Amino acid sequence: MPQLTKAPVEVCPLCGGTGWKNATPGSNASSQNDRRVTRCDCRLRARAQALLAAARIPKRYEHCELSSYTTDFPGAHPSLALAHLTASRFAQEYDPRDGTGLLIIGKIGTGKTHLAVGILKELILTKGVSSLFYDYRELLKEIQNSYNAAVQTTELDVLRPVFESDVLVLDELGAVKPTEWVWDTVSLILNTRYNDNRTTIITTNFEDQAAAGASGSLSPARAATRAETLGDRIGERMRSRLHEMCRVVTLDGADFRQKFRSASYR
Ligand SMILES: Nc1ncnc2c1ncn2[C@@H]1O[C@H](COP(=O)(O)OP(=O)(O)OP(=O)(O)O)[C@@H](O)[C@H]1O
Ligand SMILES: [Mg+2]
Ligand SMILES: [Zn+2]
Repeated sequence: MPQLTKAPVEVCPLCGGTGWKNATPGSNASSQNDRRVTRCDCRLRARAQALLAAARIPKRYEHCELSSYTTDFPGAHPSLALAHLTASRFAQEYDPRDGTGLLIIGKIGTGKTHLAVGILKELILTKGVSSLFYDYRELLKEIQNSYNAAVQTTELDVLRPVFESDVLVLDELGAVKPTEWVWDTVSLILNTRYNDNRTTIITTNFEDQAAAGASGSLSPARAATRAETLGDRIGERMRSRLHEMCRVVTLDGADFRQKFRSASYR
């Protein structure tokens, strides 16, 4: 009979594989009276790796971190430093009982997705927060796929992680306009998350202005000549809801990809 050889298992030197270590290393932790233990670093690291994998951050944004977001290059717009500070504080002060999110607004290539992913990674690595990244177009596809023609309803079970992850990044809100029933599901997701105190971080290219025809805004005729606004893309009702749900962060300035083309930013 062939011998079964076990692969050598590396045992964590801190906890000996139990997953628990002394809470007060170096002190009188070994005394009979003080046997408090805490989760070992090896378990925390493993959990962070699992959360990171579950967050589905696209490969091309894997490099994005708050610490790699530069704000002091020549010609950097002052709004970048303010946005970076807001993002860093947001990650630091994250409170799972408070669902207030961020609405990151800015033109192409100003670093919106970088900041959003940076926050997500920070929350995963330092606080073990369950997180999820979704491109808006991908989410719409997912909603469409979840539609069950036989029973004419959306199978919300498939979308459970989108409803339930503690933090959700929704990248490029408004990039496409969904059909009415798909939009109903998007609204349901955003409203449910907010009511459940779950944090949503949204990025968008569209200027935070009212929809054409909204009271107090331009007439539709005048509006036709101006660029589309966030209000045009998601409706006034949702735009106002987002203001209630999120702090607004605005990024101005040039496209980072153009500016640092030689540095091969995609
Ligand atoms: N201030 C910055 N410091 C370091 N890297 C940056 C900065 N701003 C942008 N980048 C990098 O430039 C690239 C484009 O940034 P990003 O994708 O975040 O922009 P965006 O505003 O989301 O653009 P889009 O509107 O096209 O989605 C990324 O690779 C990102 O890491
Ligand atoms: Mg982006
Ligand atoms: Zn260990």
